[in-house]
Amino acid sequence: MARAVALCLLVLVWASNVEAEHLKYLDPKQPLGARIADLLKRMTLEEKVGQMTQIERNVATPQILKDYFIGLQGEIPANQAKGVPYVAGSRKVAACAKHFVGDGGTHEGIDENNTLIDSRGLFSIHMPAYYNSIIKGVSTVMVSYSSWNGKKMHDNRELITGFLKNTLKFRGFVISDWQGIDRITSPPGANYTFSVEASVNAGIDMVMVPNDYISFISILTDLVKKNFVPMSRIDDAVKRILRVKFAMGLFENPYGDLGLVDQLGMKKAPRILVAGIHADDIGLQCGGWTIEWQGQPGNITSGTTILEAIKSAVDSGTEVIYSQFPSVSFVEENDFSYSIVVVGEPPYAELAGDNLNLTIPEPGPSIISNVCGSSKCAVIIISGRPLVVAPYLPAIDALVAAWLPGSEGGGVADVLFGDHGFTGKLPRTWFKSVDQLPMNVGDAHYDPLFPFGFGLTTNATKA
Ligand SMILES: *[C@@H]1O[C@H](CO)[C@@H](O)[C@H](O)[C@H]1NC(C)=O
Ligand SMILES: *[C@@H]1O[C@H](CO)[C@@H](O)[C@H](O)[C@H]1NC(C)=O
Ligand SMILES: *[C@@H]1O[C@H](CO)[C@@H](O)[C@H](O)[C@H]1NC(C)=O
Ligand SMILES: *[C@@H]1O[C@H](CO)[C@@H](O)[C@H](O)[C@H]1NC(C)=O
Ligand SMILES: *[C@@H]1O[C@H](CO)[C@@H](O)[C@H](O)[C@H]1NC(C)=O
Repeated sequence: MARAVALCLLVLVWASNVEAEHLKYLDPKQPLGARIADLLKRMTLEEKVGQMTQIERNVATPQILKDYFIGLQGEIPANQAKGVPYVAGSRKVAACAKHFVGDGGTHEGIDENNTLIDSRGLFSIHMPAYYNSIIKGVSTVMVSYSSWNGKKMHDNRELITGFLKNTLKFRGFVISDWQGIDRITSPPGANYTFSVEASVNAGIDMVMVPNDYISFISILTDLVKKNFVPMSRIDDAVKRILRVKFAMGLFENPYGDLGLVDQLGMKKAPRILVAGIHADDIGLQCGGWTIEWQGQPGNITSGTTILEAIKSAVDSGTEVIYSQFPSVSFVEENDFSYSIVVVGEPPYAELAGDNLNLTIPEPGPSIISNVCGSSKCAVIIISGRPLVVAPYLPAIDALVAAWLPGSEGGGVADVLFGDHGFTGKLPRTWFKSVDQLPMNVGDAHYDPLFPFGFGLTTNATKA
């Protein structure tokens, strides 16, 4: 399934300044490398170290972000996400205080002694790929890499090395997880100086401190001054962070990309139905770890709902009727060419998402039944994990596991309407019923509804 470009909710301003216009790094016409190099050479050590620091929102104030040139702030409070600019960094260092998927990997699969690694490129990749995709009762399964066979996953070093290679390929940067570097020592935090030195020298570009940023900053600054961490490593880390920030357009469009690429749908059908609350709600399509830890229903950030994207994708002569919870008679009376049902889970993260039944919450199943019983239908599931769908399959014509597509519903509409082909394959096994869990590829009694790696491939269709 196509993943929409992840949102960067950005809240930064930089002082407008006449001089700014002459600065190379602010000139979008300059090559990326030249902009990065220009900015880097203007930065002080304090600014560089600040860029490598991620702090928790509870300790972040606009003044702190500014004074310490903080590179990233976790979880922007909803009321500050829009409108109220959060000054992050100096004019020289526009900082992306974006929604941050922080420590979601901590509890699953990677052992406690490893530094957890998490990456943000132009989109977020969530580490780790924990081996048991769904453990009964502990099922806060957010989008993650894969559900690899447990046996292969025991060597976390292999996983992390592979992951770092991929990160480099994506030209993203590597960030440690929530207090992750503290755990390099046992007990955690026993020698924080060692943790900082070892992790930065090992290639961590940004440290999710996230609370005691004063210690982190002063220790790292000191390590650089004493040459225990070479300046070249700092410059490398900062370059990688800035590359992402430039590529995200943070220096041009500090409030993030609000636009959706033009979509000229040429799909002719007189009238179609779109149903389900998940069709028109950014918060639901983003899930947890969006703006706030648990996420939230509602249009909590800018973006494009799936409904809006569908409207842009269809032919101008196609009437799109949206009904959250249509009755059977409504569906029967309206003579829809076909229907698109978008249902799924509410946002959640970690423990709050634990669920033993893994069913689609009502009214999802009722919507499927009302619509698909009386119309040709495609069902889009918005969820952080496989859910019980087997009972509905006989009634539906097409099923799309969209996971949590993020802020841009166009990622879903693009494939639905053939602007792009479907290419995604299941990154984990989709079970028939929860009593099969845990079940992973390679198990003796592997009897999935859809096996690991399953997925149709379609080509883009030109109208
Ligand atoms: C982590 O390290 C501690 C101390 O060396 C050890 O007792 C523990 O078993 C390790 N945990 C794992 C999961 O390997
Ligand atoms: C802590 O780590 C630093 C840096 O590796 C080292 O120089 C120092 O001796 C360590 N301190 C203790 C108490 O082990
Ligand atoms: C979200 O925004 C869309 C588009 O403006 C709107 O149609 C929809 O009602 C909003 N959803 C919620 C839950 O506010
Ligand atoms: C499934 O589990 C969730 C979380 O425990 C609960 O809220 C929900 O009511 C359950 N649904 C059913 C159909 O039992
Ligand atoms: C997609 O396009 C490729 C290359 O043109 C072709 O080989 C393949 O059969 C097509 N697949 C489908 C499902 O149409």
